[in-house]
Amino acid sequence: MRFENQTAIVTGAGRGIGRAIALRLANEGACLACVSLTETNAKNTVDAINAIRPNAAKAYAVNVADHGAVQKVGAQILEDFGRIDILVNNAGVTRDALAMRMSVEDWDAVISTNLRGAFSFTQSILRSMTKQRGGRIINISSVIGLIGNAGQTNYAASKAGVIGFTKSLARELASRNITVNAVAPGFITTDMTAGLADEIKKTIHSKIPLDRTGTPEEIASAVAFLASAEANYITGQVLCVDGGIVM
Ligand SMILES: NC(=O)c1ccc[n+]([C@@H]2O[C@H](COP(=O)([O-])OP(=O)(O)OC[C@H]3O[C@@H](n4cnc5c(N)ncnc54)[C@H](O)[C@@H]3O)[C@@H](O)[C@H]2O)c1
Repeated sequence: MRFENQTAIVTGAGRGIGRAIALRLANEGACLACVSLTETNAKNTVDAINAIRPNAAKAYAVNVADHGAVQKVGAQILEDFGRIDILVNNAGVTRDALAMRMSVEDWDAVISTNLRGAFSFTQSILRSMTKQRGGRIINISSVIGLIGNAGQTNYAASKAGVIGFTKSLARELASRNITVNAVAPGFITTDMTAGLADEIKKTIHSKIPLDRTGTPEEIASAVAFLASAEANYITGQVLCVDGGIVM
């Protein structure tokens, strides 16, 4: 029970990696604000948590790309929970196309969700976290932000941006005892990757030294470690959880 008496926000908590992170933090004692684009999505995860620990989780629906709406939801979460110890910026999307053919809408959608969304949610709780002089912020990046990928210039730029955001924020907040780290997953089996063509899946697979794709639970383990007291002296880092793609 590493997170007993702690409260956490996980964005994109309705499915995939975000759901696994929310369940893991809740299983170890945290109370959870589960955020997703739709109430139904977030409620799925909330119901799973509350079935085991009644009233430990609450659902919030917001588009993380809507800065104004995020500020309101952040304030509501703080009112409901009193304080936030852990923020996991996980919500993310892909809109793949070669740069030559990519629409500016697809570029903007990915940058505003993956990168600005992390900034917006962080800002919505930052004053409170700074005042309490302690907290954990964990941003979900991607190995694509480190090594790039043809057809994903928007996604790679957003995830590389998340790393720059993480390091700069870590420097801003270290004196307040708030650590800020990023987790960079490799190829994880979720809805996001399910739609890829078999040929692309095969090519990706061939680049994974551990010779298998990862699970959302394996990302959740890394996030739980960074959120725990065991990681007290770690800040500004990018932890690749990728079966060895980046080394
Ligand atoms: N699956 C992978 O292989 C992989 C690899 C590297 C990084 N990641 C990153 O991990 C995170 C989770 O990915 P996943 O595979 O679980 O994806 P997913 O598509 O299964 O889930 C994403 C979640 O984010 C939510 N979301 C999307 N846009 C949103 C918005 N504008 N506002 C609020 N919520 C929004 C969705 O509703 C969904 O619940 C993403 O940031 C993704 O980029 C995934």
